Amino acid sequence: MPLNINGQTNLVGLIGYPIEHSLSPAMHNSAFAALNLNFCYVPLPVPPERLGEAITGLRALGFVGANVTVPHKEAVMSYLDEVTPETQAIGAVNAIVVREDKLIGYNTDWQGFLTALSEGGFDPQGKRVVVLGAGGAARAVVYALAQARVQVTVLNRTPARAQALVQDFSPLFPRCSLVSLPFTPQTLEVQTAEAHLLVNTTPVGMWPEVDQSPWPEDLAFPGHLTVFDLVYNPGETKLLRQARAAGAKGIGGLGMLVHQGAAAFELWTGEKAPVETMYEAASRTLRR
Ligand code: ATR
Repeated sequence: MPLNINGQTNLVGLIGYPIEHSLSPAMHNSAFAALNLNFCYVPLPVPPERLGEAITGLRALGFVGANVTVPHKEAVMSYLDEVTPETQAIGAVNAIVVREDKLIGYNTDWQGFLTALSEGGFDPQGKRVVVLGAGGAARAVVYALAQARVQVTVLNRTPARAQALVQDFSPLFPRCSLVSLPFTPQTLEVQTAEAHLLVNTTPVGMWPEVDQSPWPEDLAFPGHLTVFDLVYNPGETKLLRQARAAGAKGIGGLGMLVHQGAAAFELWTGEKAPVETMYEAASRTLRR
């Protein structure tokens, strides 16, 4: 895509490490072009020890904002002037807006998840949900689900991390039932037997480990479950294939990626995001 960068170009950066495989530059630059906005989205690989310098530099360089990705989503919070209340609760930032020389941290992952879930035809109100993983992505997912009256069980390999998540969120959402358990084949089987939705927030099954799944090979997949896999590369993960083979409904992670991006796009530009353009650009880059 030809870029016309001049003195008035509004710059947005992607801060992560590594970031070569990110779909976000293609997705956002296509969206800027579709709306004829003089914005440019640039990948900025930043190793952990230089994160503070990089964040301060955004202001000095006149960036209008940035996305923040693995491994900086939590650490970045200490370098910002403000974070929104939901970002504080989630404990992870994925978008920064530079406003009146202040660095403001946002989390748009939770909105991205809710929009993608609804686009997938699932209404979480009153439902039972099993969430696999207890990292930053899981916190955004549980925060999103807790907007509805839900029963959530968080299963995690490291049980203490799931316990911490539940302890942090329970006082904020007294209408929801939040429980944590160790992630084992037994807890997975028992908890999903009664659940409506299974959400995978772990990276298991992500390219290049495409033959892996958080669902054990020797456990029958319950056909009644809807599965949301946050992994978007590959588009259909082994977990989604297992679900499909059992007649269960599956939702891939691309929608959440696009919708968290759309929410950030709207913060930076003040314009409605061209979601279809973003889907097309992300899918095209993924297939490449
Ligand atoms: P993110 O910001 O994407 O959530 P993260 O904070 O590193 O990334 O969290 C990754 C989550 O996936 C964690 O819950 C992790 O479990 P631990 O807390 O035990 O580390 C989980 N995870 C990663 N690899 C896993 C694996 N092979 N099996 C099960 N869980 C895994």
